[in-house]
Amino acid sequence: MNRLIRMFSTSIGRKLVMAVTGLILFVWLLGHMLGNMALFQGADSLNSYAAWLQGHPSLWVMRTSMLLVLAVHIYVALTLAMENRIARSSGYAVRTFQTSGSSRYMVITGGIVVFFLIYHILHFTLGVVTPEFHDGVDAAGNHDVYSMVVRSFQNPVLAGSYIVAMLLIGTHLLHATRSMFQTVGVNHESYNGTIRIFSQIAVALFVIGNCSMPILVLAGVIGLETR
Ligand code: HEM
Repeated sequence: MNRLIRMFSTSIGRKLVMAVTGLILFVWLLGHMLGNMALFQGADSLNSYAAWLQGHPSLWVMRTSMLLVLAVHIYVALTLAMENRIARSSGYAVRTFQTSGSSRYMVITGGIVVFFLIYHILHFTLGVVTPEFHDGVDAAGNHDVYSMVVRSFQNPVLAGSYIVAMLLIGTHLLHATRSMFQTVGVNHESYNGTIRIFSQIAVALFVIGNCSMPILVLAGVIGLETR
């Protein structure tokens, strides 16, 4: 416990906390995307996957843990950004959190991620954005998540907002993955190029995978299923 508190009190320790919590969130995001890709297999597949998730005994443990990880990530990010600002205004040469421009950029794009998250939960989880699509039930008695997602993405404004959000979240992740490797000490001329490519591929998979859903619905490749 003491070690944990000591780690929090140093700048490098907090950067490490950022890296670890960021990595956990990124892995969750990739898992969420892979799960959502059941959309490509049709209504039965996505609806039974969603029903399995909603009924999982560890659902609330998972939700609470991820919320905690997100809260720590945001809190530490803001602390580091503030330290960086104070250091700059008092003319210190040492920067605590990436470069000042990048730090500001990460706070802004991070804010966009949080804004999207609230909007997204209001949309798909709570059904506030499109209540008319939210309460459907399929033939098996499961929540009709498939129709909710497809009908939402058939609306160009909603689909467009998701595509723009994924691109913005992608830029946050691109900067974040790069600085994460630097934080954990992987920063050397001979493999910086490989790191950059690795980060770009992981983030490109995230952006392409997530954008493919609204794009394929808008293009009419994925549509409502009639029985
Ligand atoms: C095109 C991209 C995405 C699609 C189609 C999508 C789809 C969904 C759907 C259908 C649900 C509700 C599941 C249910 O109630 O059964 C959901 C929940 C959620 N999504 Fe997404 N999502 C996308 C991207 C994202 C991104 C980028 C994030 C994070 C930044 C995210 C975070 C969440 C969270 C936190 C929940 C609530 C999970 C829970 O209820 O425990 N999603 N998403």
